[in-house]
Amino acid sequence: MVKMTAIKVENLSYWYPDSSQALRGVSLEIARGETLGLVGPNGAGKSTLLLHLNGTLRGDGIVEVLGERLTRKNLDQIRRKVGLVFEDPNDQLFMPTVFGDVAFGPLNSGRDEPVVRRLVQETLEAVGMEGYEAHAPHHLSLGQKKRVALATVLVMDCDILALDEPTGGLDPAGREGFIRLISAQPLTKVIATHDMELAWQLCDRVAIIDSGEIVAVGPASDILTDEQLLRTHKLRCPPGLIYSHAPYSERYQ
Ligand SMILES: Nc1ncnc2c1ncn2[C@@H]1O[C@H](COP(=O)(O)OP(=O)(O)OP(=O)(O)O)[C@@H](O)[C@H]1O
Ligand SMILES: [Mg+2]
Repeated sequence: MVKMTAIKVENLSYWYPDSSQALRGVSLEIARGETLGLVGPNGAGKSTLLLHLNGTLRGDGIVEVLGERLTRKNLDQIRRKVGLVFEDPNDQLFMPTVFGDVAFGPLNSGRDEPVVRRLVQETLEAVGMEGYEAHAPHHLSLGQKKRVALATVLVMDCDILALDEPTGGLDPAGREGFIRLISAQPLTKVIATHDMELAWQLCDRVAIIDSGEIVAVGPASDILTDEQLLRTHKLRCPPGLIYSHAPYSERYQ
């Protein structure tokens, strides 16, 4: 059976206004329903690539979402299909209340207020933040903010979820809860992360990006067990795998 493509990126290059090149001819396909992990060292271009998937940044090259090429004209439609959750929830939340932030998208798309109220309530329940409607987002903990930031995207009923460092800064229990929450979303997912354990738990395939180039892509079970490949790009195997592999003395001699 041929899998439908959710996202196709072809020969994408991007220069920031200060002329530094962050993406160098990136090509990548993500199948519908798949979870793809995007790993790479600091400054590799992970966040920059995610920002292209919903047209927040526009580089040279092609980005196609569900068969449709992203252009200036269809930017709004594409943004509804690709929900991007930033690494820092403070970049996502800007309204005085949690309700205001989660209701912002649906209200802006012309949904009726009673419908929006129901959607907000359902979505806050889904992310475990029911009862926080009247709270000020900037008074929430990081973990709570991350849940609300995810809600602002899920409430739009997107097809594709692009997550930047979803577990960054979370405590172990918060991290596990957030991983369960992501895992429960039946969507196509692209996850940029330094959390190799998360990549191992959630991702079907993993792409390594380094210095703006995709240097490897394959099944998570191949990429995340290739210690030499990972080390070349300043990455490490998921800790759980290491402990089940060879003893420490054999690996670090
Ligand atoms: N606003 C900006 N202006 C200029 N250069 C930028 C800007 N944002 C990022 N860069 C540069 O682009 C490159 C890619 O950065 P990016 O944030 O995409 O990396 P990353 O893989 O997400 O890193 P990290 O793991 O630290 O989050 C880096 O060299 C970075 O310095
Ligand atoms: Mg980043």
